[in-house]
Amino acid sequence: MNIKCENITLISECSSNDLHIERSGLQNAAFSENDMRGIVIEQCNLSNNCVRHSDLTGACIESCKLDGMTIDGINVQQMMDFYKNNFKENLTMNKATRKAIIAGNWKMNKTRPEAKALLDELKGMVADIKTVEIVACVPFTNLETALAATEGTNIKIGAENCHFEKSGAFTGEISADMLAEMGVEYVVLGHSERRQYFAETDETVNKRTKAALAAGLKPIVCVGELLWERECNITEEVIARQIKLDFFGIKAADLKKCVIAYEPVWAIGTGKTATADQAEEVCAFIRATLAKLYGADVAEAITIQYGGSMNAANAAELVSKKNVDGGLIGGASLKAADFTTIIKAAENG
Ligand code: PGA
Repeated sequence: MNIKCENITLISECSSNDLHIERSGLQNAAFSENDMRGIVIEQCNLSNNCVRHSDLTGACIESCKLDGMTIDGINVQQMMDFYKNNFKENLTMNKATRKAIIAGNWKMNKTRPEAKALLDELKGMVADIKTVEIVACVPFTNLETALAATEGTNIKIGAENCHFEKSGAFTGEISADMLAEMGVEYVVLGHSERRQYFAETDETVNKRTKAALAAGLKPIVCVGELLWERECNITEEVIARQIKLDFFGIKAADLKKCVIAYEPVWAIGTGKTATADQAEEVCAFIRATLAKLYGADVAEAITIQYGGSMNAANAAELVSKKNVDGGLIGGASLKAADFTTIIKAAENG
């Protein structure tokens, strides 16, 4: 339900779980004894707000005017200023503070016994990795095996797609809820093979992304230009269009749960890697596009991966780039030793 209201001066004893308030003038408002868990407040004027005796667990306040706002008598702006001055390095969002994520995209490979063997080998090799998020995105049939094999390890499991409806007459499809219920954490969406061979469009990628987020999954959304689009010099137009459409209607707080994988279509499975400079150029462009849409702080916080023939030999140079925060790895993720080398490269990147 969307409501527009004016001149609120008191909200009292309400339950407002997961409420989203944006672009509103809420100055001088008083919130008292409210259940405000999960509330998201963006681009609002909260000057002289008074929040008392309320549960703000998981609340998110972004890009808001805060002067004079107090929470249980504590001046929020003063608290923020103190924090910024004393812990400045923690607030400087840059590559060092973004999460590097190396995700394997197994595609249509591995039976269950093969999946278990690969993960058993991998988990021993990467057990001491702490600063890189390791993800294996596996075929649906391998999810249960993969979840069991990696339980209690630092390897997260992802799926390779999900449908956008919650349930229903969609023969052969799998919903985001079904994945989340299993314990799956990530899902690859909009992979170019899905777009090319299974007629997926930016519109359905957008719907899938929203469905995945609603189910609590972390989407890895793939974007990338075709070879002829690059040759026609329209790479940036193509990427900007994909970003705008794939994330249309997705709020900043949700965008932060997404990973973006820049995968030039001409580099996938072809052995032709984008040069590190080409990868950096487009990843930086993606970040600049996000900054225009969501603001610099949000853009700086998003993990942007490169994908396309990334391997043990070229990973270090790719992930050393300022805007390349990891990789989505196809072929090389099917060999534990190669995948480990890539993960270790990201640890140092
Ligand atoms: P590749 O695949 O590493 O085999 O090129 C990457 C991907 O499709 O995600």
